[in-house]
Amino acid sequence: MHHFHYRDGELYCENVPVDRIARKVGTPFYCYSHATLEHHYRVFDAAFAGFSHIVCFAVKANANLAILRLFARLGGGADIVSGGELYRALQAGVDPRKIVYSGVGKNSEEIRFALKSGILLFNLESSQELGEINRIAGRLGVKAPVALRINPDIDPQTHPYISTGLKKNKFGIDIEQAVQDYRHAQELPHLEVKGAACHIGSQITELDPFIDALKRLKSLIKRLEKEGIRIQYLDLGGGLGIRYDQEEPPHPSEYGEALIKELKGLKCTLILEPGRVLVGNAGILVTRVLYTKEGEAKHFIIADAGMNDLARPSLYGSYHALRPVKERPRPEVKASLVGPICESGDFLAKDRKMPAFQPGELVAVMSAGAYGFSMSSNYNARPRVAEIMVKDGDFYVIRKRETYRQLTWGERLPDFLKGA
Ligand code: LLP
Repeated sequence: MHHFHYRDGELYCENVPVDRIARKVGTPFYCYSHATLEHHYRVFDAAFAGFSHIVCFAVKANANLAILRLFARLGGGADIVSGGELYRALQAGVDPRKIVYSGVGKNSEEIRFALKSGILLFNLESSQELGEINRIAGRLGVKAPVALRINPDIDPQTHPYISTGLKKNKFGIDIEQAVQDYRHAQELPHLEVKGAACHIGSQITELDPFIDALKRLKSLIKRLEKEGIRIQYLDLGGGLGIRYDQEEPPHPSEYGEALIKELKGLKCTLILEPGRVLVGNAGILVTRVLYTKEGEAKHFIIADAGMNDLARPSLYGSYHALRPVKERPRPEVKASLVGPICESGDFLAKDRKMPAFQPGELVAVMSAGAYGFSMSSNYNARPRVAEIMVKDGDFYVIRKRETYRQLTWGERLPDFLKGA
């Protein structure tokens, strides 16, 4: 469910015509619907109402402060993977006692920052990391709350780049080795073993992989209990998919129900790290068509947004639906919607049927709220685009478009290159 809809042939976000925003802020821009974000959060949270839980939004999916603040106000925490994400979450007012820190490569500075901030849980991904966190916590005179991130060796049946819970992936600790690592963690004086975690992948559209992973973690937790190691927090990661095209992912309520059923008998607090499912369909990327180019072999529609603004199509071959901001009768054509970047891999949609978009018109690239702006870059020295949040009949610039001056921020000419 989302609040992007047509009224008299014109695309609206809630009660604001998308065209009005474009006239005010220029293009391209990301546009998020406040009502959709709030609805998604509430539905997801309600799905787990029957079990003690914390919803820790995966900041990597969309790190804008306004979005982080919105979820924090609704009671959410954050799942972070870097010092920068921790900084953002704290700036946005997320309660550190609801922050979990995942990631295979936390450096000592990041670990110190997180320990000083008093986060809820470090999800540790290797035996060496246990030692490092223990050492740093010892120096600071604190105990680090930790969970081990288990690699349950489950195939989530998703794109290989976003599958993370298979043995061959770099993530987590092999489930066979976990008991040994838990014993080790238990012996380290500056660690407090609190949890078990896993995250098997992203854009998962079936329930089975989640249930299989949970079953494996459950049997591990039972084994640990026998050894006197009590798991207070069970973090099942994120990964629930959304509809981009024809996918039919389970509704969050089915996902919640299935997990809770499987959790029966376990006494712990559940942590969830949803990213995409909360923000994906709550955002669009709006771009203006600059030119069209009809060759003998190809039909290109050239837009002012490119792979630096939305990397997913180029990186994963992802599908994003395209909608005209103003509907009009016209033929469908087989074309590619491409950007201005100097790479043949720069496309938002490749060789597929789409309305015959014309120069000057606005196109909405749908379902772009997750891993859209957060993966954007300055490649080709392109300022990153503006982000807008719509609430009812008003819109707010929640991130200004970058300026050329910002592009060179921090760069210095060494003395030997100064002067004419
Ligand atoms: N927790 C951990 C430890 C993760 O690594 C991720 C995503 C999440 C939670 C959130 O997963 P979600 O609910 O959003 O599926 N850039 C790719 C997706 C990469 C996902 C990385 N990890 C894309 O655009 O599809």
